[in-house]
Amino acid sequence: MEKQVKLEDIVSLAKRRGFIFQGSEVYGGLSGTWDYGPLGLQLKKNIMNLWWKTFVDERDDMYGVDAAILMNQKVWQASGHVDTFTDPLVECSNCKGRFRADKIDTSKCPTCGKEGTFGEPKQFNMMFKTNVGPVDDESSISYLRPETAQGIFTNYKNVIDTFYPDLPFGIAQQGKAFRNEISPRDFVFRSREFEQMEVEYFVHPDKWEEAFEQWRKDIGAFLDQLGLPKDKITEVEVPENDRAHYSKRTIDYEFAFPHDNDELLGLAYRTDFDLMNIQNASGKSMEYRVKGTDETLVPHVIEPSFGVERALMAVLTSAYREDEQNGEKRIFLALPEHLAPVKYAVSPLLKNKPELVEKAREVYAKLSKDNPGRVMWDDSGNIGKRYRRQDEIGTPYCVVIDFQTLEDGTVTIRERDTTEQKRVEISEMDERLFN
Ligand code: GAP
Repeated sequence: MEKQVKLEDIVSLAKRRGFIFQGSEVYGGLSGTWDYGPLGLQLKKNIMNLWWKTFVDERDDMYGVDAAILMNQKVWQASGHVDTFTDPLVECSNCKGRFRADKIDTSKCPTCGKEGTFGEPKQFNMMFKTNVGPVDDESSISYLRPETAQGIFTNYKNVIDTFYPDLPFGIAQQGKAFRNEISPRDFVFRSREFEQMEVEYFVHPDKWEEAFEQWRKDIGAFLDQLGLPKDKITEVEVPENDRAHYSKRTIDYEFAFPHDNDELLGLAYRTDFDLMNIQNASGKSMEYRVKGTDETLVPHVIEPSFGVERALMAVLTSAYREDEQNGEKRIFLALPEHLAPVKYAVSPLLKNKPELVEKAREVYAKLSKDNPGRVMWDDSGNIGKRYRRQDEIGTPYCVVIDFQTLEDGTVTIRERDTTEQKRVEISEMDERLFN
């Protein structure tokens, strides 16, 4: 049975089962930061690898880069981030609480409850500022990147000069981004340190609309692969006054998160805004010569921009289930098999029987070879407890080695969603088991 998932359900499962912990928890935490435990890391990797496979490896018009996080301050001046990457900040004169003016009712302080304590909002720049090198002056200022996109734009010319791609082509990057959010909230949804997966897709200016439409299809297909139900996703056309400073058209993909319908990812038409800014600020030409013609132009850009944490939260929300088994409540994650952090859990029926343990170790080694990092050895507690634990972390198959295994080489495989059990030959195990 599907139930309305609450944010606490996800947060508590994530902590209880070793997916996600509060950052620096042992020292009381650091707001807006999160640490990934073994299962959260594997789930995150599975999402990021699927994205890379879909949008880079399986296409021949894509180039991957991995740019430095620290960049020359001119990048952020030219891109407009130094001047305009801001949120409106208000401070309560009574309790000194600071809030995003556009997210609260400013007539009354949400912390102390006093009315009329907020003045006019100030623009607060969200970039984390730092200094590079031992001298702390204007010339050494740098920022932790607030988007991976600029590391792509600054490598556009390098990719052209070394790979001579045909237009249209894309450059992809995955990696950390940092924003000094005024109010981090809703678990990992709005963090101060997070990961992005972005493509800057360079097109002929006359062809941006068809590329934009194609990206809508490609994004839809990827969200299917994440196992997100279509009825939980809404495409919202962002009106001009709400669009980022660089965009002429943006669609926000909203997902029905437990806290609200909120932005999962964005698709933007960034025109030639970034390349022209780089050209003007650096004095270097960003022109592209269209092959087989005399035409030179500065390409326009379509940008699909995914946040990893939001994708992960949407995946967990979609997979969270509760049902009843033998009169007891059961929680399980119906994760798609290709995303589940653990694909197989292997157990000897009894851990004090050396012959069962030895056989189970053999099966574990065989499955691990074909599914590196995604097979778990699980012999603690009784078999019912093991199933519950594996259900909660979304393991599709539990493999149990019992006395019959020693006689006929078959094992019991128990399927997560149906709890159905089957006996199969060890040699058949890694084929499609339950179809
Ligand atoms: N390069 C374009 C860009 O960065 P954005 O809408 O500001 O656009 C893109 O961010 C995506 O990055 C968002 O849709 C979201 O998935 C993710 N994201 C942005 N801020 C975030 C935050 N504070 N915490 C977690 N994810 C965030």
